[in-house]
Amino acid sequence: MTYAAITGWGACMPPAVLSNDDLSTFLDTSDEWIATRTGMKERRISHVGAIELSTVAAARALACAGLDAADVDLIIYGGVSNDELVPNSASGVQIALGATRAASIDLNTACTSFCYGLTTATAMIRTGVVRNAIVIGVELISRYMDWSNRNVAVLFGDGAAAVVLQASDEEEGVLGSILGCDAEGRQTLRVRGFGCTYANRDVNFGDTIWDFDGQAIFKRAVHAMADASRRVMAERGVGPDDIDLVVPHQANLRIIESVAKYAGVPMEKVMVTVQKYGNMSAATVPVALVEALDEGRVRPGATLLMPAFGGGLTYCSLLVKWGQRVTPIATSDLTLPPATKSALEMVNEIRAQQDPHGRSLAGLMAPAFAESWAHPQPA
Ligand code: ACO
Repeated sequence: MTYAAITGWGACMPPAVLSNDDLSTFLDTSDEWIATRTGMKERRISHVGAIELSTVAAARALACAGLDAADVDLIIYGGVSNDELVPNSASGVQIALGATRAASIDLNTACTSFCYGLTTATAMIRTGVVRNAIVIGVELISRYMDWSNRNVAVLFGDGAAAVVLQASDEEEGVLGSILGCDAEGRQTLRVRGFGCTYANRDVNFGDTIWDFDGQAIFKRAVHAMADASRRVMAERGVGPDDIDLVVPHQANLRIIESVAKYAGVPMEKVMVTVQKYGNMSAATVPVALVEALDEGRVRPGATLLMPAFGGGLTYCSLLVKWGQRVTPIATSDLTLPPATKSALEMVNEIRAQQDPHGRSLAGLMAPAFAESWAHPQPA
């Protein structure tokens, strides 16, 4: 039987830090509100594009695995943030790495993209389609965040991380995956402004309206992640006591605490990064995984649980058996150029270019237009 071992891991976090107090300089919010409602204290703002972030993360993961880029058969770029839509982003990472033989796929299931990508690559390795794969989770949300909307602007950050998967005879890697989509809730989390609906209608790329029902998402997220976690554990015949570490999607500390409670796992066994990085959508799980390894929280042979949810509303929970190696084989010297501006300066530059919905996008959202493309809400 062939398995897909996780043999390499690497993150690339942009250095510029945006604090809650920075956000309070242009939004009617406070450190106290953000910290108590979400657990977030700060997040990162990238000075480079999403492909560059991904390439550095992937190069670090390859070095960690001791694998040559020329031996990579598959790159999955998981996330919502693309520098451009055509050509796809995975091909940009491929050429930057020199992974000349690789198939290159962009995969968008919003915040679950990394976990869906991990499951997809695992299945392709286990069925013999490929032998070596890179799976990336990346987001560059700062570029299309609606920085005038305090309901969402305080929640997100930029970042990237990647893992390398390799065919193995050892029973390790992703051993169980529950994937699903609560599509009746798809209207609760929308970013308007991208896609064919808006093409040739005088909408600036990056001008967005975030339709976001935080409380509905919160409830659906907790239910879906806890249920998927219980199901994947039952399917694999493991109980909460067998879980060594939960590496969850990091949307809100209160969501993480609720999922841990319903899954029956104490918070001491949960990896939390939301205070440092906010919600990086598809990047949260792999970044937390890399930090857990760096901090020695993943022991050889450990059993990990990875629950996540995102727009769609897609959800999943993965059960992962770690191998014997928890340290890198080598390190990469690839790194980002230094940031020449502070995070707040970069955000203020983006804000200065954004039209706070006084113009095109607001017009497109007039009821008649909205009705022509909106899907009916379920009763
Ligand atoms: N600062 C200060 N006040 C604020 C802010 C802010 N940043 N945002 C909202 N408020 C106000 C509201 O206007 C409201 O005021 P009102 O009572 O006068 O009307 C009050 O605070 C309470 O707002 P709620 O929405 O009830 O606050 P809640 O406790 O639900 O927290 C939050 C909101 C943090 C968004 C929470 O619902 C949440 O985390 N939901 C899930 C978010 C999520 O899923 N994100 C990830 C998905 S994204 C993806 O998948 C791509």
